[in-house]
Order: sequence, then structure tokens, then C-alpha cells
Amino acid sequence: MKRWAIITAIMVALAAAAAAAVRAQQGSFDKLSAADRQAFQERFAKDIWPLLQRNGKNGCVGCHSGKIVSALHLTGQVERDFPMLLREGFFIPDDAGSLLGRITDKDPERRMPRSKVGLWTDAETKLLAQFVADLDKKQRN
Ligand code: HEC
Repeated sequence: MKRWAIITAIMVALAAAAAAAVRAQQGSFDKLSAADRQAFQERFAKDIWPLLQRNGKNGCVGCHSGKIVSALHLTGQVERDFPMLLREGFFIPDDAGSLLGRITDKDPERRMPRSKVGLWTDAETKLLAQFVADLDKKQRN
């Protein structure tokens, strides 16, 4: 390859990477600093993740990591799923499509878990609601 061709190829690759980075930033609901994100991830992993993971295939993680038609796809690895949930807006307060919104939906056709096994108790729902509220407050700072 001639030198100019190599340089052009590098420039094109750099421009594509920069454009992708800008898109990722713009389309993200994650406004946390790295330290805050880490702290919220640890809290999520400790308090909320076990609730999502329980009940195997009838649980949130079990079903949402399988072959279903949904915008929510989980891998089952909290260190990958938490940043995705944050970025994609699944913790937005008062949002019908969020985790909390779907768990507390009045419509039994929309309420999660879809399996009807392991509906969340009030205490568990409150735990998630508090997490969402604290996260929102931090994002606004
Ligand atoms: C047995 C399978 C199953 C289980 C268990 C389940 N879901 Fe779902 N979920 C679905 C399907 C299918 C959809 C897409 C259809 C719909 O929107 O109702 C969905 C949709 C969703 C959505 C909306 C995503 C979108 O498409 O915008 C959220 C949020 C959600 N689920 C969260 C949860 C949470 C939290 C739990 C656990 C408390 C859970 N789900 C348990 C099957 C399941």
C-alpha cells in the first residue's frame, strides 16, 4: 500500500471512531462520574441484582437473557448489565418502560415478571424505588 493510502485509511478509521463516540455520548442516559457509577454499581450488585437473578428462567435475568422479543436484553453479568441499564434509561424515574415502571405497572399484561412467579413485595419494590431516586438525584448534581 502506498503511504497516502495508509494515511487515508487511518484517517477514515479515526473519523468513524470519533463519530461513534459522539453518538454513544448523545444517546446515553448515563451522566455519572466514573466514581459515582462504580458506587451505584456496587450498591446495585448487592441490593437489586439478586432480586433480578432469582427464580431462574422465571426471573428477570433468566427470561431477559433468553430468546424473547424485548428491548431489554441482559447478559447475566452485572458488570455489563448495570452500565447498559443506566445508559439505556432503564432507571429513569416515573417511566413506564423502566424496570421500576414495569414491576409496578397496574396492568397485569405489562407487569413484570411476566411469569407471575415471584412478584415483588412492597419492601423489594421500595428498595428499587429508593435506588432509582438516589441515582436520579446524583445525576442532577
Ligand atoms: C418469562 C419471561 C419474562 C420475565 C420472567 C420477565 N420479563 Fe420483562 N419482558 C418480557 C417480555 C416478553 C417483554 C416484551 C413484551 C412487553 O413489553 O411486555 C418484557 C418487557 C420488559 C420491559 C420493557 C422493555 C422494553 O421492551 O421496552 C422491562 C423494563 C422488563 N420487561 C423488565 C423486567 C423485570 C424487571 C423483570 C423481573 C421482575 C422481568 N422483566 C421479568 C418477558 C419477561
